[in-house]
Amino acid sequence: EYVLLKNQIIHREEAYISFHDRGYHFGDGIYEVIRIYNGTPFLWEEHFNRFLRSAKELDIDLPQSLGEIKDNILTLLSKNDVRNGTVYLQMTRGEQERNHLYRRDLTPILTAFTKEGNVPISQQENGIGLWALEDIRWLRCDIKTINLLGNVMSKRKAEDQGYQEALLHRGHIVTEGSSTNVFMVKNEILYTHPANHYILNGITRLLVEQLADKEQFSLQKEAFTLEDVKQADEMFVTSTTLEIVPVTKIQGSIETNFSIGPVTRQLQQAFKQTTA
Ligand code: PDD
Repeated sequence: EYVLLKNQIIHREEAYISFHDRGYHFGDGIYEVIRIYNGTPFLWEEHFNRFLRSAKELDIDLPQSLGEIKDNILTLLSKNDVRNGTVYLQMTRGEQERNHLYRRDLTPILTAFTKEGNVPISQQENGIGLWALEDIRWLRCDIKTINLLGNVMSKRKAEDQGYQEALLHRGHIVTEGSSTNVFMVKNEILYTHPANHYILNGITRLLVEQLADKEQFSLQKEAFTLEDVKQADEMFVTSTTLEIVPVTKIQGSIETNFSIGPVTRQLQQAFKQTTA
């Protein structure tokens, strides 16, 4: 297995990161997870645009040109012979003896690894349950930072209660999942939280927006509440790793069940057509 470290593709056993990496001390870095279908990265430009945006928001400059980074990732994919899976790309601010105040002359550390594996067909077919709990994360959830403790803690709580994903809400407003965006369907209209500082603007969410348009569903990017969720007809979550997965049950802050509906099924089908 090969990995990317800075601008070198090397064996995983030979890849070492500095003890004083700011990613390790502060979670001071950003990442992307990109899906690979049939050996080809999916929505690659969109992922890199978001990566650049996250870098800009955190005042981190790329250590190499974007072209070089993309070439290295393509080489990594072919060296590891990834057919269907994901590539994880991370950039930390660099190496500096621990200090909250970062220096501006650091060389950011890029790393990437690949993972072979198909999308979770049985979850896509049968749906998952969500555990609803208060969103305790910071106020810049739009930045795809590796600092993910709020997400990690929520995911663990959901799993401990026997649920596959968390449903996060700030007060009564539903934001997103611990690693997914959330959609609700009511009277054939789709609702999802607007892409502001409270959620990550998911690449899959963007695609679903386009698919909804193509399938002639109207989509409202407006915040909805836990009470709205109780009245909803259908609910689903989206991410690079899951694609579109229906929600069949919610417990925790609210308690409700859904059957898997026609709008979700139609969007799932449309999704499969774009990746075939
Ligand atoms: N997570 N919201 C959060 C908080 C996320 O971490 C993710 C993705 C999403 C969905 O975004 P996208 O459609 O671009 O994957 C929404 C990735 C997959 C992860 O951390 O593994």
